[in-house]
Amino acid sequence: MGYPKEEKILEFLHDKNLIVASNRGPVEFHKHKNQIEMKRGAGGLVSTLLPLMEALNGVWIASAMTEEDATVAKGYSDNRVPITLEDPKFWMSFVLADEKQYEQYYSVISNPLLWFVQHYMWNTPYTPDIDDHIHQAWKEGYERINQKFAEKVVLESTRNEKDPLIMLQDYHLYLCPHLIRKKLGDIFLSQFIHIPWPQSEYCKIIPEYMRNAILEGLLSNDLLGFHIPRYVHNFIQSCEYFADEVDYQQGIVKYDGHSTQVKSYPISIDYDGIKDMARSKGVLEKEKLIRQIKGDKFLFYRTDRADLSKNIIRGFKAFDLFLDKHPEYWGKVKFLTTGKPTRQQIKEYEKYSQNVKDIIEEINNKYSREGWKPIEWIFKADYHLVIAAFKNYDCLIVNPIADGMNIVPKEASAVNEQQGVLILSETAGCYEELEENVLTVNPFDISQTAEAFYRAVQMDKEERSIRLKNLKDIIKKRTVYHWISEQFEDIEKLTSA
Ligand code: G6P
Repeated sequence: MGYPKEEKILEFLHDKNLIVASNRGPVEFHKHKNQIEMKRGAGGLVSTLLPLMEALNGVWIASAMTEEDATVAKGYSDNRVPITLEDPKFWMSFVLADEKQYEQYYSVISNPLLWFVQHYMWNTPYTPDIDDHIHQAWKEGYERINQKFAEKVVLESTRNEKDPLIMLQDYHLYLCPHLIRKKLGDIFLSQFIHIPWPQSEYCKIIPEYMRNAILEGLLSNDLLGFHIPRYVHNFIQSCEYFADEVDYQQGIVKYDGHSTQVKSYPISIDYDGIKDMARSKGVLEKEKLIRQIKGDKFLFYRTDRADLSKNIIRGFKAFDLFLDKHPEYWGKVKFLTTGKPTRQQIKEYEKYSQNVKDIIEEINNKYSREGWKPIEWIFKADYHLVIAAFKNYDCLIVNPIADGMNIVPKEASAVNEQQGVLILSETAGCYEELEENVLTVNPFDISQTAEAFYRAVQMDKEERSIRLKNLKDIIKKRTVYHWISEQFEDIEKLTSA
């Protein structure tokens, strides 16, 4: 499978009942031409855990995200669906919730409240208003859905004789570990948080009783993972007022007679996998379109979920400023942007998508001339197209306000063939690994970002080539398989201690 120390890991795992829980699961059911079809998700978590899940016949607990998920789930006892239906290798246990409850849990508490706090996105003189709506959503949505997830985990843990190995994922499930611990007592619990953990003062936006419940939940884990040491530090600091003892050196927090090991595991990519995909027919086909868009121009590229944390608008404001200051580049550069809509049921996201469209249109109206439109926009790009663009950009911009890791710079640099320059904000998780070979930007500094665009177009080929080679070397050394293997190694140590 390609995991470092694979034999050792498989030996440790072979008698384990692997139980993963995340809000969004690795597969979704959709209706296509009146047939229900299964779609597999992408991303690091799915590509690393799914092969193990299949090898161990484990179970993945997730919310039913589509109507079809719910329909399929209702056909099986405990809503536990074999995947695939024809050739079962593992199980998806779907959590079903009524619409209102899910909306309170997902669209009020998880996003925007927690997501915005953890990405420093509240505009505090004006937002958030923590009103009855939010208090109620916490009680009736977030608490209840966490309860449902916990019940599923408990059910799965006692389903067979094997030792349960429970791996909870992310900020939707902060309350789960405590609820599971109350039921199952001395059982091994781990959780990975894929988004930043902000500085403790900023966390105080969240009312104290919610904060305490979150910390009580997270400190019920035996192992708690974040992407980078900074988030581990911030988390431990947030625990100071609440826990009995904190140890920054060892990464240990003690609360209520229990110790939690808090540690960073920077996620990465499947380097060989993405290189193979870059050579695939599907990608080669999409490259034709990219080359047509690029022509003989210097190609800037960005690709993001249309999330407010991605800072897409300031990226375009900077591009506008760059064009304004450097008319000599009119007609000589092109900006391709691809993305996908996200969380459109949440008003902040819906508005943001519209604002992104507006600024693109504004820049295109301002600068377009006969035969040249500065920005080309493909909103619902498929993965093959994105990889085709990764291969061909001259400069990639990734300028999030904050980001747990952001693997776009890693995937893109791995396959780029044009000595592509990387503009990266210092607040992205991956910045810690890549900083020496990027053009650094403060995500709020539009002038500096415009200057980075200018530096990128001016940079000579030799410097570009050295920077890209260094990036590739760093990325090759640590893959997503290291990320998961290190967690298993630590779990083994902690369970045998
Ligand atoms: C981030 C989070 C994930 C989440 C993903 C997509 O990566 O860490 O938990 O699944 O964004 O967001 P969505 O709300 O569409 O699941």
